[in-house]
Amino acid sequence: MEHTLSPAMHNFAFERLGIPAIYLPFAVEPKHLEAALGSLIPLGFLGVNLTLPHKEAALKWVQTISPEVEQIGAINTVVVRQGERMGYNTDVEGFLASLQNDLGWKPKGKKALVLGAGGAARAVIYALAEKRAQSIFVGNRTEVRARHLVQEFRRHFPAVAMEWFALSEESIQSMAKQVDLIVQTTSIGMNGGSLKISWREIPKTTSVIDLVYRPLDTPFVKGARSAGLQATGGLGMLLYQGAASFKLWTGREMPITTVHKRLLQELSRSTS
Ligand SMILES: NC(=O)c1ccc[n+]([C@@H]2O[C@H](COP(=O)([O-])OP(=O)(O)OC[C@H]3O[C@@H](n4cnc5c(N)ncnc54)[C@H](OP(=O)(O)O)[C@@H]3O)[C@@H](O)[C@H]2O)c1
Repeated sequence: MEHTLSPAMHNFAFERLGIPAIYLPFAVEPKHLEAALGSLIPLGFLGVNLTLPHKEAALKWVQTISPEVEQIGAINTVVVRQGERMGYNTDVEGFLASLQNDLGWKPKGKKALVLGAGGAARAVIYALAEKRAQSIFVGNRTEVRARHLVQEFRRHFPAVAMEWFALSEESIQSMAKQVDLIVQTTSIGMNGGSLKISWREIPKTTSVIDLVYRPLDTPFVKGARSAGLQATGGLGMLLYQGAASFKLWTGREMPITTVHKRLLQELSRSTS
């Protein structure tokens, strides 16, 4: 839980807007997820965010989901409304806003490589397919997870070409040369590790996004930039998905520009 910047983001926004609320991190073990979500209503919560590894499992413990969430198969936000727990996925909106605002990139007719097949990858694949990407290649360490995910999404988006593969240095390199966008969704960068790519061999027109935001620039992002590619980390996505969740809970717009500055300060303080 110590990796999350969400408490700093939401508490700062509550304070700026004078909203009497507090955002707290809870480290919940998978076996306690049902009980934790069950306690939201009796304890008077407005809602919660879910992070890894709970995004897929939490679907079972909400009462209402939108048709989009049914296709994504993962939630990152629960809103308590009229005595019910409602599941949302604001990662989709956050990812698309970051693509647009941080990379100036639009999915329509393009080819994308998604590394990882967890809860975050589900939101990314849904976002790319929904915005009519031409093809999406999904690579994962556990190949069967990528296969199931692709088979599931092919049913929802028959017009989008989708393939899966097992992650290896060779497979990543070969796929990365063929696409317009590379999306790093594995959690490996959180621990200072990185998936390896020989960035000099990748066309300079390829854009790169790593969903990991701590550190601000992961080795993956630094490698891509040093070879002249346009690359961004996950801070933008964090900010935009957070703003969407904030609006669902409070009905108010998060003051994005000041919150962004605050998050940059927070990151530089925690890494100095
Ligand atoms: N910026 C944002 O707003 C934002 C939003 C959502 C998520 N994220 C970040 O995205 C990352 C993934 O989150 P998630 O919810 O998708 O987690 P998750 O459901 O637990 O999935 C983790 C993914 O990482 C892969 N992985 C983990 N360690 C690996 C390693 N050593 N080598 C190769 N692959 C590895 C897993 O592969 P296996 O299937 O083989 O285990 C799986 O594909 C986290 O770092 C999270 O903080 C950021």
